[in-house]
Amino acid sequence: MGMFPRMLLGFLWAVSAVAAENGTAPHAPPLLLVSFDGFRADYLQRFPMPNLKLLYSQGVLVDQLTNVFITKTFPNHYSLVTGLYAESHGILASSMYDPVTQKHFSLQNDSDPMWWSAAQPLWLTALDSGYKTAAAMWPGSDVTNRTPTHFFPYNRSVTFGQRLGNVTQWLMGDGKEPGAMFAALYWEEPDQSGHTFGPENTTAMAKVLKEVDDNIGLLMRELNRTGLWGRINLIVTSDHGMAQCSADRLIRLDDCLHPDNYTLVDLTPVAALIPNDSETAFISLSKCHPHMTAYMKKSIPDRLHYRNNVRIQPIILVADEGWTIVKQGNKLPRLGDHGYDNSLPSMHPFLVAAGPSFRRGFRMKSLQSVDVYPLMCRLLSVPAQPNNGSLVRAQCLLAGETCWDVSMVVGLVVGVLLLLSAITVLFRFMRSPRSSGSRPFQRLDILYDDDEPLVP
Ligand SMILES: *[C@@H]1O[C@H](CO)[C@@H](O)[C@H](O)[C@H]1NC(C)=O
Ligand SMILES: *[C@@H]1O[C@H](CO)[C@@H](O)[C@H](O)[C@H]1NC(C)=O
Ligand SMILES: *[C@@H]1O[C@H](CO)[C@@H](O)[C@H](O)[C@H]1NC(C)=O
Ligand SMILES: *[C@@H]1O[C@H](CO)[C@@H](O)[C@H](O)[C@H]1NC(C)=O
Ligand SMILES: *[C@@H]1O[C@H](CO)[C@@H](O)[C@H](O)[C@H]1NC(C)=O
Ligand SMILES: *[C@@H]1O[C@H](CO)[C@@H](O)[C@H](O)[C@H]1NC(C)=O
Ligand SMILES: *[C@@H]1O[C@H](CO)[C@@H](O)[C@H](O)[C@H]1NC(C)=O
Ligand SMILES: *[C@@H]1O[C@H](CO)[C@@H](O)[C@H](O)[C@H]1NC(C)=O
Ligand SMILES: *[C@@H]1O[C@H](CO)[C@@H](O)[C@H](O)[C@H]1NC(C)=O
Ligand SMILES: [Zn+2]
Repeated sequence: MGMFPRMLLGFLWAVSAVAAENGTAPHAPPLLLVSFDGFRADYLQRFPMPNLKLLYSQGVLVDQLTNVFITKTFPNHYSLVTGLYAESHGILASSMYDPVTQKHFSLQNDSDPMWWSAAQPLWLTALDSGYKTAAAMWPGSDVTNRTPTHFFPYNRSVTFGQRLGNVTQWLMGDGKEPGAMFAALYWEEPDQSGHTFGPENTTAMAKVLKEVDDNIGLLMRELNRTGLWGRINLIVTSDHGMAQCSADRLIRLDDCLHPDNYTLVDLTPVAALIPNDSETAFISLSKCHPHMTAYMKKSIPDRLHYRNNVRIQPIILVADEGWTIVKQGNKLPRLGDHGYDNSLPSMHPFLVAAGPSFRRGFRMKSLQSVDVYPLMCRLLSVPAQPNNGSLVRAQCLLAGETCWDVSMVVGLVVGVLLLLSAITVLFRFMRSPRSSGSRPFQRLDILYDDDEPLVP
């Protein structure tokens, strides 16, 4: 290496080191990602939520986020921070069995790094880029050797206010140490109440959603108080929705297959089985119940992106919306549940974002949840790991970015083709003197945008 490039590198290093020392990076504002577990998209229309509305009136709203199958908490929280489908990030359910290591995963025993290591969550990528990162109770953030700079061991008794108080401190830094560039904050509601009372219990859901909305108010006040408001980008979203269950909609597995003939890894609403004899078990299970679909692993539909992983068992059973798989008996375990097909609107969460990088008063009908990861990498200017999302779709949410809306692109292409054929016709018409009269040109409606502006 010559003298001059060496000096230039040294200079650049010094500049970036100084900039990093002062707490904020030279270009990107910090990013705070917040998840309220089990916030079904239509709660926003069914309940008042004044603070959340105030938040998105100053930013963007995505009505429905198409999440990943299975629509459970751990798979979807890991997809949000990796941009990967469950089959690619390896967190496939709340209960898993890994045939290679012969280990079992459960919500109570989730901290072995082998479960998480197929993917790199954003808090590690941002660490690699030289930033500090933080997480409060985000699934996977307390796994040994895979933690952000600041984190909590999972403890559901820590209140929202305590989690938030720590997160804002981590974001601000302490004067000597720079603040975190990326922080993730997790809260258990409205999921818990949705399970206990069912999403159709308006009394119970109104109560918990008022609490969630109060927490969003607290979040905005706390960011304002600490001077972070307006300086950071904020994304508020969730992992999945909730469906109403009923004791009238039970599917009893023991009626179809004797428990001696298989090992059960996960039960409802997506069951995972290791049968002793696949052929006979599949025949019994496929005619078990009209509201349950049985799949041999190799025939799980492509659109679910739930096949290419050793942790997916030889047979999976998928219950229809609102149906519950039990082993036997008449007892309904929960009045609300999720995990069902990710094409169901009841399984979709929402997304709201605000901050210096986001458009103001912009609304979008839908987005894929795997698109959130490339969006966050762009916001932080960190290199995105290989993922299943697309920045092209998510870019529409950002201020000062070209928005290649799919309908607009299709409209443009069709428009150009129509124009070209019109010119061809016109050209022929002018060259042939005995042409039979003129045809009127049709008006071309080539552009339309289905995203309406918001009324605050
Ligand atoms: C860092 O902060 C110090 C004092 O607060 C200031 O003098 C200096 O210019 C800052 N450097 C950069 C690159 O912002
Ligand atoms: C938790 O899982 C690990 C393997 O990942 C296993 O070695 C350990 O025994 C399990 N602990 C409990 C309490 O089941
Ligand atoms: C969980 O948090 C509560 C409240 O902050 C605390 O009292 C309790 O000791 C914590 N539990 C563990 C295991 O750390
Ligand atoms: C941080 O969380 C702990 C509980 O783990 C709590 O005792 C403490 O008050 C929190 N800090 C702030 C600033 O809220
Ligand atoms: C709805 O939830 C409330 C608790 O908020 C409970 O008291 C009531 O019994 C529930 N209603 C139904 C129909 O389950
Ligand atoms: C932030 O605080 C200022 C002064 O107290 C207030 O005028 C403003 O409305 C607050 N903004 C938000 C978003 O709470
Ligand atoms: C399951 O295994 C038992 C023997 O334990 C056998 O009698 C039965 O036919 C098998 N098949 C089904 C579908 O239960
Ligand atoms: C099915 O397989 C399990 C585990 O390999 C075994 O314990 C059980 O006896 C088998 N059942 C039958 C009916 O063969
Ligand atoms: C998702 O992304 C991963 C990582 O790039 C890739 O291996 C996988 O094939 C992708 N899945 C699909 C369905 O494209
Ligand atoms: Zn959840």
